[in-house]
Amino acid sequence: MDAAAVATLAALPDPLAGPDGRPATTPEAWRNVSRPHQFALLEQHVYGRRLPPTVTHVEGEVERGEAALADGVVATRLQARLRIGTGPKSRLIDVLVYLPRRDGPCPVFVGLNFRGNHAEHPDPGIRLSQAWLPNDEKTGIVNNRATEASRGSNSRRFPVESMLARGYGMATACSADIFPDSPEGRGDSVLAAVGRPVTGELPADEPGAIAAWAWGLSRILDWLVMLPEVDPTRVIVVGHSRLGKAALWAGACDERFAMVVSNDSGCGGAALERRRVGETVADITKRFPNWFCPAFAGYAGHVEDLPCDAHVLLAMTAPRPLYVASAIEDTGADPEGEFLAAVAAEPAWKLFGLTGLGGVAWPPVNTPVGNHVGYHVRTGKHDLLEYDWLRFADFADRHLPPPGRPASKATGASGR
Ligand code: GCU
Repeated sequence: MDAAAVATLAALPDPLAGPDGRPATTPEAWRNVSRPHQFALLEQHVYGRRLPPTVTHVEGEVERGEAALADGVVATRLQARLRIGTGPKSRLIDVLVYLPRRDGPCPVFVGLNFRGNHAEHPDPGIRLSQAWLPNDEKTGIVNNRATEASRGSNSRRFPVESMLARGYGMATACSADIFPDSPEGRGDSVLAAVGRPVTGELPADEPGAIAAWAWGLSRILDWLVMLPEVDPTRVIVVGHSRLGKAALWAGACDERFAMVVSNDSGCGGAALERRRVGETVADITKRFPNWFCPAFAGYAGHVEDLPCDAHVLLAMTAPRPLYVASAIEDTGADPEGEFLAAVAAEPAWKLFGLTGLGGVAWPPVNTPVGNHVGYHVRTGKHDLLEYDWLRFADFADRHLPPPGRPASKATGASGR
């Protein structure tokens, strides 16, 4: 590790500290004292207060059928509409699930998408998204609405056939159903549906889009765990980029997620803010004022005063398995800063007698490392590709084996 990295790590707040500054030395002290304290710091200074759960209503019939996908793969396809809130401000979340056709409940990856469920796969049976979407002629979004031309436009990010072949179900919903991604989106978001303030000066710890997306993931989980085909103890939350930030916060807020995966989540996600490499707190809060709680923007220019950092967010997953993925050309997301946050989160797993990354150096490209915390840096750009998904599956195979089979101790390519 170079001198700059060592200095960055030394300057970080202790992720195990309780309110009196003393670090937890036992899992109980972490669970009862330090974790709630560290979680409250993230709520207060970065994401906003966690919203209470609500009853998740399923609107109408769940559509359940067979879908013939590529490569001769036949899947069970489910589509459901979840209604959040009641009355004119209520919101509908369209959820799409593909499940392998086999007996017994299976593990499922769940994550949000950017452009509608129908953009994730060319399957003509997927309902076209009704959400407000940012215009993009290239991908068939016109007048802020999806058109038929947008089907499958994002499918490189959602390799259903390969993941079903690995035994994993794949669930997704459009982030815009939960919070349309613009400063004006708040009024049409689930926050409005559950009565949060949407106009005027917001409280400093009022949740923004990332917290709303995270909360929406929990509402989707409420429904997923009721399905007989889904193993409720093996639902993995995953997300790319801004939706990777949301996946990390969802995993922090809701420990029913059995494993957490961040892909290229960068600033406000897995990357250490204090490094100020790539996108900074000043950049992100200026460009995306709707993402965080208002207090976060107050740290623009003096991030060293932030009482927490990305390693605290990552530590919230402990002792559950966590996977952090970077891409080497994704300089805006500071790949090395994502790795160093995972290094700095290690003490949280150690408390439970587990090894996180296990002291490895930042690995070469395409070389997964780690134990209960996994990491890789892929060749190429900011994106979510099949390479990434297959590594998530490898990691989940090791840490979330079917009930009755012990988790493998093997660390895969650890240390290579
Ligand atoms: C922008 C933003 C990032 C974010 C990314 C994405 O680049 O600056 O913070 O992760 O969008 O969501 O694709």
